[in-house]
Amino acid sequence: MAEPEEQASVPGLADLVEEARHASAAAPNLEVLRSLESDLIGKRGRIPGLNRTLVQIAPEMRKVAGAAINEARSTVEALLEARRAELTAVERAAALAADRLDLTEVPPDPWARGHRTVITSTRDRLEDVFVGMGFEVAEGPLVETDWHNFEALNIPVGHPARSGFDTLYFDVGEPESILLRPHTSPVQVRLMTSRPPPIYAVMPGTVYRKDTPDARHLPTFNQIEGLVVDRGITFGDLAGTIESFTRAFFGPDITSRLRPASFPFTEPSAEYEITCPICRGTGCRTCSQTGWIELGGCGLVHPNVFKAVGIDPEVHSGFAFGFGIDRLAQVFHAIPDMRVLLDNDLRFATQF
Ligand code: PHE
Repeated sequence: MAEPEEQASVPGLADLVEEARHASAAAPNLEVLRSLESDLIGKRGRIPGLNRTLVQIAPEMRKVAGAAINEARSTVEALLEARRAELTAVERAAALAADRLDLTEVPPDPWARGHRTVITSTRDRLEDVFVGMGFEVAEGPLVETDWHNFEALNIPVGHPARSGFDTLYFDVGEPESILLRPHTSPVQVRLMTSRPPPIYAVMPGTVYRKDTPDARHLPTFNQIEGLVVDRGITFGDLAGTIESFTRAFFGPDITSRLRPASFPFTEPSAEYEITCPICRGTGCRTCSQTGWIELGGCGLVHPNVFKAVGIDPEVHSGFAFGFGIDRLAQVFHAIPDMRVLLDNDLRFATQF
């Protein structure tokens, strides 16, 4: 290392070495250090630049001064090198930390299982209750014939009840002969034409109507139909069955009532209503302050239906009912707007 007085013989040299000492210690990363290096000792750096000042020095002093510059250059090089080693270690450690695999992290379960939708589980519960009451479960096709859906159910062509069903027809065969079923009642017809009474069956399934979705209607929804055909079946059997089912499904504080109605395939006919499960009968927005919610229709099987399917109405009698599974799930779970059933929103679906 050159003596201080020899360095002092080159003006600014000692200051540059001091500046290098501080700046390299303060360099926050390798990039800053590299630009510091080229500024201080690069080809056009400030320390090599001092060589050009040697001409201003007395010739006998030049050798010493040149050596002092070289010495300073080595000192600065060593300072930069030491800082480079430090920064390299820090940057490596940071890169390693960033790349590290956390082997304790639990991976997402690739086999996470879904579960039944609220409609499917409601349908399953309905089936359980009716099976417990002695009913069997039957199904019919979603695509129906005009005869099963209307004619055999005492709804001939031109009957005003046809327009009550916003029916979707297929462009197949005779016009308006094949359709997406708008109710599950044609399954009654299929059961009665396939075997003799007694029949005690419920028939759940999807139905379709040309309806615009709103808070209480969906164009694709589900119904459950009930049919009993035997000897000596009365309206009392219907009312008792409806009431037993209502209590079994909703619990003892919910009851049912039947109000006069009209369906072509039942006579007499009734609307089936239950105590509003949301307000428990005191009156609320959902039940329009009446304390009752309409679930569906029912009645004694019309003699014309028996005639159409070849059952003698003088020997057998029976009752039928039908109501909406989606509507039932809506009141049971107090779902304000039915359209969420079609949204596929997991925040809704996972609540059930
Ligand atoms: N099928 C009727 C409907 O969809 C309901 C019903 C079924 C009425 C059975 C009486 C008997 O509106």
